[in-house]
Amino acid sequence: MSEYNHYRGAIYHCTESNGVLEPNYFVDGLMVVDNDSGSIIEVGDFNQISSKWPNAKSSTHFKDSLIMPGFIDTHVHYPQYKVIASYGASLIDWLNKYTFIEEQKFSDETYAAKVADLFLDELIKNGTTTAMTFCTSHKQSVDIFFTAAEKLKLRMVAGKVMMDRNAPEALCDSVDGSYFDSKELIEKWHNRGRMSYAVTPRFAPTSSSEQLVQAANLLEEYSDNNGNKGVLLQTHLNENIDEIGWVKELFPDSKNYFDVYDNFNLSGPNSVFGHCIYNTDEEYKRIADSGSKVALCPRSNLFLGSGLFELDKLEAFGIGTALASDVGGGDSFSMFQVMNEAYKICRLNNYNLDPVKAFYLTTLAAAKVLDMDNRIGNFERNKEADFIVIDLKATELIKNKLETSDDINDILFNLMTLGDDRLIKEVYILGQNIYQK
Ligand code: GUN
Ligand code: ZN
Repeated sequence: MSEYNHYRGAIYHCTESNGVLEPNYFVDGLMVVDNDSGSIIEVGDFNQISSKWPNAKSSTHFKDSLIMPGFIDTHVHYPQYKVIASYGASLIDWLNKYTFIEEQKFSDETYAAKVADLFLDELIKNGTTTAMTFCTSHKQSVDIFFTAAEKLKLRMVAGKVMMDRNAPEALCDSVDGSYFDSKELIEKWHNRGRMSYAVTPRFAPTSSSEQLVQAANLLEEYSDNNGNKGVLLQTHLNENIDEIGWVKELFPDSKNYFDVYDNFNLSGPNSVFGHCIYNTDEEYKRIADSGSKVALCPRSNLFLGSGLFELDKLEAFGIGTALASDVGGGDSFSMFQVMNEAYKICRLNNYNLDPVKAFYLTTLAAAKVLDMDNRIGNFERNKEADFIVIDLKATELIKNKLETSDDINDILFNLMTLGDDRLIKEVYILGQNIYQK
């Protein structure tokens, strides 16, 4: 038996059985982590399981804290670290005025490396241990990102943005260039350690039909085979009314926006579509039937004034869905604050997003969207021990509000409403501490 460590304290994680969420809360819990592999051996009530594990190499007891799985952000743009909080524009203007300007700076590798480090620091201090991120259209932006993530042993998904039209010349690639650059990056990074590659056509308006064909060729060439996980796909869908009108003009033969991706064979279980605010019922049905996944970005949708998604519809159609920050359209790295705004959008649609589900959408559901739920997302045996320690006394208000509460629903709801990076006390990756506040 290899060496193991003990982590004692209040522990929360969510499991799922036949589609039913099962919150697991141990007021005095114990997590046993294998030192060699950095994976979970057992989680349970301290008094019930501690005698089974008497020889821990080290024991850590977290008081006034809650141990939880690290957050998973299913849609974010690392090059937009400094685009966050850009004033007064809706999507297309915001892209032209701020985003496409900033992304051009990533031709400079020193700049890209600096931002990659800052971005990962910010994720970690917010308790986000895995993210699916867009890079820029520069091949090096991906190399640089994966190199930085690999050093920290983080599980990450990333891809080179493919865009060959309707953007500044300096950001546009070509049909062949985007294909061969992506291919080289896939060969180098996909399934290397904890890294996964996502084929990344930015969105339909910035790719020619020929480029979308090449994106589909990459998906096909590197699809799930020989037991290895295939590459993923990330893009944007139905985020903004003007964007949808533009797609109609550019692809007049398509039935709707999703149909563009679908026709080019870019839909499927490995594909993650960001936003999905304005899906028609026909689109919901096709997304569901194709097994495609959705990343909802509430803070971005409110910040850019894009609109209100309908989580109840996604659920009714049985679509795999998770939450995401979409920084820099989104204005916070904190997944607590992403849940906060998701709750409010749902309220405006007369739907209550309960806290167990909200945390599910930022952990296990997000792992499922990335097809990584056999590795991360909760504390089931053999999963990777990426976890966070939340300080339940981090702010006066939270401390006072939680003083009289031992109900986990109440605790979680207060955290997602009032929490931010101040609450993240420690972060562990594969059982190793990488951050202390
Ligand atoms: N649509 C195309 N590109 C982007 C982007 O960078 N951010 C958001 N929110 N939407 C997009
Ligand atoms: Zn985005």
